[in-house]
Amino acid sequence: MYNITNFHRNCDPRIIQNATKIKIILNPTILAIESSCDDTSIAILKEDAILCNLVASQSIHKEYGGIVPEVASRQHLLHIVPLLDQAYAKAGIRQEDVDAIAFTRGPGLLGSLIVGVSFAKSLALSLDIPMIEVNHMQAHVLAHFIDEPAPAFPFLCLTVSGGHTQIVLIESHHDMKVIGQTLDDAAGEAFDKSGKMLQLDYPAGPLIDKYAKLGQPKFSFTEPDIAGLDFSFSGLKTGILYFLRDQQKVNSDFIKDNLHDICASIQDRICTILVNKLKQAAAQTGITEIAIAGGVSANSGLRNLIEVTGAELGWNTYIPQFQYCTDNAAMIAIAAKYKFLKEEFVGLDASPQARMTI
Ligand code: KG4
Ligand code: ZN
Repeated sequence: MYNITNFHRNCDPRIIQNATKIKIILNPTILAIESSCDDTSIAILKEDAILCNLVASQSIHKEYGGIVPEVASRQHLLHIVPLLDQAYAKAGIRQEDVDAIAFTRGPGLLGSLIVGVSFAKSLALSLDIPMIEVNHMQAHVLAHFIDEPAPAFPFLCLTVSGGHTQIVLIESHHDMKVIGQTLDDAAGEAFDKSGKMLQLDYPAGPLIDKYAKLGQPKFSFTEPDIAGLDFSFSGLKTGILYFLRDQQKVNSDFIKDNLHDICASIQDRICTILVNKLKQAAAQTGITEIAIAGGVSANSGLRNLIEVTGAELGWNTYIPQFQYCTDNAAMIAIAAKYKFLKEEFVGLDASPQARMTI
């Protein structure tokens, strides 16, 4: 292994004071922390392999029908230390073997991010090793490099989560640009808010997916007419609200009687809105390497539609494993590895950032 110890080139001077054990090696062992929203996750990457990717989810938010930021940060505090112990045990490594600590800097909920960032700092300080900050949305895209086959550059990635809906043009591991995005709600929000109207628990995306498999898309909702590569989901949300209101005037049990078909219809519309824009982006850029990422990429309807469309249009499609779709620290670890190789470390003054662009 190529191994240079105490190699400080390009490093922030504060890091030299704080971390003396900076080893620039080609295959670093990175411990990554993700805490941007309501999942606490810790992953360990060693020699290009994810040794563990543990996630502690927060079911407590179901009671409130959405994420309560204050509750989310307190839950992160409860979960993070036991998760670290489990991560070392699962990966079968000692803390002395870790070369760098990676963390999600943003975007996300500030209180949630603070827990991960502070924990990363204390670990880095106690182990005397450098820290790497990662942009959560870039990490969703770079999750495609955890397993083979990885997309070839340039590729397009439809990044769809609870907070974002973007089409990203990726030129390299370090160079990506958003070429289309939502003007209002994110696709995950469209799933979750529609689910709320159907009295489904939060987050409703996975439940809509489950019920859609049992129904037919027999109710039609309109596709918004938005210029360029941007998206909009607020009109769809209002359309669903009025549709349900009108139907319930006639049959007060309309939702109960038609739940599976309503879910199939909502899912079908959200997925066609997403894939139609992706088709437009592919035609406009001439790119046929097409990936999806983020929580909504776990949706079976979307995965299927991307495959079918890709086969029709001659795309090479890349669909992440389920565990790398929703929030996870493995994606933070792989994103951090590319930064490690460029020696992009941060000092102990690194701060969380709720809003961050790609
Ligand atoms: O990426 P993610 O885990 O967290 C954010 O960064 O937001 O995405 C969470 C979103 C939620 O809106 C959730 O309802 C949605 O992803 N989601 C799904 C599915 N699994 C998660 N939406 C539709 N179908 C699914 N199977
Ligand atoms: Zn996410």
